[in-house]
Amino acid sequence: MESLDIQKIREEFPILSREVNGKPLVYFDNAATSQTPMRVVDAVLHNYTHTKANVHRGVHTLSQEATDLQEEARRRVRDYINAESIEEVIFTRGTTEGINLVAASFGERFREGDEIILTVMEHHANIVPWQLLQRHKGIKIRVVDINDRGELNLDQYRSLFNDRTVMASFAHVSNVLGTINPVKEMIAYAHAKGVPVLVDGAQGAPHLSIDVRDFDADFYVFSSHKMYGPAGIGVLYGKKKWLEEMPPYQGGGEMIEHVSFNGTTFASLPFKFEAGTPDFIDIAAFVKALDFIKEYDIRNIASHEEALMRYTTEKMLEIPGMRIFGTAPHKCGVISFLVNDIHPYDLGLLLDKTGVAVRTGHHCAQPLMERFGIPGTIRASFAVYNTFEECDIFINNLKRLITFF
Ligand code: ALA
Repeated sequence: MESLDIQKIREEFPILSREVNGKPLVYFDNAATSQTPMRVVDAVLHNYTHTKANVHRGVHTLSQEATDLQEEARRRVRDYINAESIEEVIFTRGTTEGINLVAASFGERFREGDEIILTVMEHHANIVPWQLLQRHKGIKIRVVDINDRGELNLDQYRSLFNDRTVMASFAHVSNVLGTINPVKEMIAYAHAKGVPVLVDGAQGAPHLSIDVRDFDADFYVFSSHKMYGPAGIGVLYGKKKWLEEMPPYQGGGEMIEHVSFNGTTFASLPFKFEAGTPDFIDIAAFVKALDFIKEYDIRNIASHEEALMRYTTEKMLEIPGMRIFGTAPHKCGVISFLVNDIHPYDLGLLLDKTGVAVRTGHHCAQPLMERFGIPGTIRASFAVYNTFEECDIFINNLKRLITFF
């Protein structure tokens, strides 16, 4: 493992030098969205000022160039996640759209009484699309619980499979607890029962290396904006055998082969699932975010983030009344906590006054909050550009603010 030059990395992120409320910004809300390095911002600017034209729709030079950039991005994503082919890489608006797409399209095959396995730690984006399907199809949702450290109960997971199970869908990493779920093992078990699996990689892809073939995931979804890329785009990886069988999710331009009022035929993969003009500017710029991650190596990034997380956790545990939610040995990215009975919003607002940005509330994981019997938490989350000095500022401010309550 190589140690990273964090100061050099920070130079790529001008926003990190700004002040908030007269104090240097300490950005610890990376699980909500990470900041964006200049190479990505420059690529967006370059794409707007040099190659803006609609993709796959023109014979003219600009359209060809824009198309080439977008399709190069698809190849780069394929390589990054080790998909077998570019046909398995669908560009979406983000993780949420990816899950909605699978629930709506793959879900077409489900019948009343079929069962889907989710977990109590899911983000709403991996609950509500299945509930919409439940209304429409009469499927049942079965939920895997966690232990007090925030790890999934794998015995229960295995016990939920039966003849009616048609799908399992779970997070790679919990956005609240940071728990890294044993996705490979969970997928292998589901497959042994003939059940396909979707993995919500929104919090996994920014911190861990992703190999969809090694995981053997049927679907893996993630967002660009949490991994140093532009906002508004994401990726749905799906095994070709499923994507080929699935009906289109939305209708419109580029997803058709031929349109007639007597019947329309659809484009081949991946375009069948990319109705309408895609966000080709940001898709092309996402390549620069992948370059950034590659240059510093996701393993080095992960080990730096883990060191920050462990250091901060240790210091936080010295604070009387501190409760940390998510203490699995195998965790990454985030620390969710409460101190005594201080409301998360109150502490979040005060931390903001000291320049520290954290997320407060239910983190779009209300069933998990209910499981712990709490309204919400405060969550500090880390990225490669964070420093130990920032961790100290956060801890010292936290200690000082707590004395006001
Ligand atoms: N899902 C994002 C989070 O956990 C927005 O903050």
